[in-house]
Amino acid sequence: MDKILIHGGNPLSGSIKISGSKNSALPILAATLLTRENCTIRRVPDLSDTHYMLQILAHLGAQVERASGTVSVTADKVESIAPYDVVRKMRASVCVIGPLLGRCKEATVSLPGGCIIGDRPIDLHLKGFEALGAAVRVEGGNVKVFAPKLTGAVINLRGKFGPTVLGTDNVMMAAVLAEGTTVIEGAAQEPEVVDLANFLNKMGAKIEGAGTRRMIIEGVKALHGAEHDVIPDRIEAGTFLVAGAMCGKGITIKRVDAEHVRATTDALSSCGFKIETKEDWISIAPNGSTTPVELTTEPYPGFPTDMQAQMCALLSTTHGISVITENIFPQRYMHVAELKRMGAHVDLEGSTAVIKGVDRLFGAPVMASDLRASAALVLAGLKAEGTTEVSRVYHIDRGYEHLDEKLSELGAHIERVKG
Ligand code: EPZ
Repeated sequence: MDKILIHGGNPLSGSIKISGSKNSALPILAATLLTRENCTIRRVPDLSDTHYMLQILAHLGAQVERASGTVSVTADKVESIAPYDVVRKMRASVCVIGPLLGRCKEATVSLPGGCIIGDRPIDLHLKGFEALGAAVRVEGGNVKVFAPKLTGAVINLRGKFGPTVLGTDNVMMAAVLAEGTTVIEGAAQEPEVVDLANFLNKMGAKIEGAGTRRMIIEGVKALHGAEHDVIPDRIEAGTFLVAGAMCGKGITIKRVDAEHVRATTDALSSCGFKIETKEDWISIAPNGSTTPVELTTEPYPGFPTDMQAQMCALLSTTHGISVITENIFPQRYMHVAELKRMGAHVDLEGSTAVIKGVDRLFGAPVMASDLRASAALVLAGLKAEGTTEVSRVYHIDRGYEHLDEKLSELGAHIERVKG
């Protein structure tokens, strides 16, 4: 297994381009199952997760071609069964249920297993399918949904931890081919949900209110093929901005939607960094002393849970006491034990991390546990004295396109070594 070695203490400068969004590309690729016609999706990032999704589409009978960031899918005939072997590698596979139910009026998909970042049930997805008239059965590790026909309904998808992103996507993709009108209350407002709705509308769907808490979907008889460019990855963008904050003399990220990253840039400004934004680029630079902050993760447009670990790394060397409260995945703190091995001072109290900034971090061998935790360890390694060895980097390759190469472009001394 590959490892990443980071020789810390080198200032970063220059600019990099942001890739297409993983969390937008995955449901959009799944949505191509809704039509027999060809769909062309551009800016699909080169990640193990997008490769997994293409394997699932091919397994379900779609013709799939990929040429660098452009993917062509023609799902003329589709199966409605996605077995364990195919979907076990990636939780987001769950978002093929909606399109299969919409198109085939049935779907059998292996239930996603446990997840290191916390409890991740799909009860809200299933509640939505039932409201559209589907029967839902969970047996033998599979979820089976079927309906002679789907009928529009009013569905509230807000759960204990707020709206659900993939749940909103899944129910939206089932409802576009239902008879009548569906209203989703408590819908997720994430930019990735809006990007999916825009793609579906290009396919001939009738969706209004994407990006608000209330979406209205008027069912249509059939959808046609379409072309689409995936939005930039706001979490990759945020991760590089934190790299710039931790070790930058001033870096610029390009091909980004500044509005999508606002909660992160606001947090970095509150920490004392100088941020400049234009429509499609953002620059960050040191601005004298830094300030500890208090952050709480929330659904969009609040501060994203997928940036929590990276901010932990930054605040571990920001003088004073910072406090982070994780409201979406309360146990999402696998990175803390590893940061402490590098000299960070973090106390966990339930879903809150109290971070006492230290003067410096020290390079150490550390273990990646999940996608964003591994990014935080790489960021800490850039700042640390000496060499940090991050193992299990396959977690990074799930969600960051060429992370080590892009950091090298900015001046980091980082190398990938074959395990
Ligand atoms: C999406 O996951 C993202 N994944 C996650 O990013 C992200 O952390 C999450 O949204 C929150 O922003 C993709 O888009 C592929 P949720 P999703 O359903 O849709 C609870 C990354 O690092 N819930 O919005 O699976 C759930 O347990 C990944 O790129 C229910 O209780 O998350 C959580 O506490 C990690 N019942 C909360 O809602 C349900 O049926 C939000 O989860 C569904 C969710």
